[in-house]
Amino acid sequence: MKSIKIKKILVIVLAVLVLLSGSFIGYRVISEQQRRKQLIAAFSSEPGYESSLNERYLAYHDRNEGVDIAELLVLVNAGIDQLEIEYDRRLAGFVKAEGFKPEEVQRYLDYSNRTKADEATVVGLVSHGVDQLDVEYGDRLIAIMNDPYFLWNRIGRYCEYDSEHDGDQLNVRSLVERVNCNLDMIPKNGDFHADPAKGKQILVNNYYDLAEEYVPTNLVDVDKAYSSKGARMDAEAYEHLVELISEARRAGLKVTIYGDNGYRSYSYQATVYDYYVKMLGREDGEKRAAQPGYSEHQTGLAADLTVSNISYKGYNQAKGFKWLADNCHKFGYIVRYPDDKTDVTGYTYERWHFRYVGVEAASVIHETGLTFDEYYAFYIEQE
Ligand code: DAL
Ligand code: ZN
Repeated sequence: MKSIKIKKILVIVLAVLVLLSGSFIGYRVISEQQRRKQLIAAFSSEPGYESSLNERYLAYHDRNEGVDIAELLVLVNAGIDQLEIEYDRRLAGFVKAEGFKPEEVQRYLDYSNRTKADEATVVGLVSHGVDQLDVEYGDRLIAIMNDPYFLWNRIGRYCEYDSEHDGDQLNVRSLVERVNCNLDMIPKNGDFHADPAKGKQILVNNYYDLAEEYVPTNLVDVDKAYSSKGARMDAEAYEHLVELISEARRAGLKVTIYGDNGYRSYSYQATVYDYYVKMLGREDGEKRAAQPGYSEHQTGLAADLTVSNISYKGYNQAKGFKWLADNCHKFGYIVRYPDDKTDVTGYTYERWHFRYVGVEAASVIHETGLTFDEYYAFYIEQE
């Protein structure tokens, strides 16, 4: 009798236990679902959320407790969860940096450990291979990167040029300027070509050449009043030159084109080049005249000018050229080979050689003192 009672009690206890555990498991299932739902809701309120990645967000969250939700999304969206890399607080910084590539994450971490540079800088340096170079990350490199005309895609070249000119005590501005103007390359070896698609901002110099057969499409004849020898020029450049000449006239100056030295064909340039080389020898001659194919006179955008007083009284050429240098940018012209940039342009000071680049570029060049070579590298070539 007693044992039946005990058995009954046992059955009831058992039944209660079964019921309790059942509801506990049920509760667990519900609460897990609840947790996932809450997390997904949190993910979905972040920018960049993609519902197809829910399982990966959840898995990465479970693997890395405490990771910030916004950061988690960025990392999973970038595929970091698929890599065999432990979570690290620097990862989000790498991912957000320009040039980030998931396959380079280990290199970022290694370089970051070595240099302590911030994440964006690490990504920049690694993506340009600086982690593979024998270059110390220190004040010099940081100063180079802070130069106002620093170009990321030339960083390896700055470092190389700097180590080759270690003894020259080049300041950082000169170093960056020289590389931006390609002085680390061999001139006239056909590495680069002038690009007529750049229009009025085409660069022609000792590194960027024009084909022998290149002739500008819109050449016009210059009025006899401005060129007694019948120069030709690019139509837009000519229009602006006439405005410049008129303004000069109002200032009491007479400006004309020297001979027919507006547009010069490839073969005409050959004559000019030969003349200077014969007269001065090759080294000095090449500082005065470009080899055919390397002269911007072939674009029709350049003109050699003469200037004098209208009255021919108190004739002061230097003053006239100073007026032209100070005012030509308003009409889209620049002094192309300035006095203080002869080492960069490769040409001696040519106060008479003006180049049409358009008002915007001319104004920037006038204000900054950049050469057109560097202006082109920084503002035009990157586009
Ligand atoms: N004198 C300039 C550099 C030329 O020959 O184009
Ligand atoms: Zn010239």
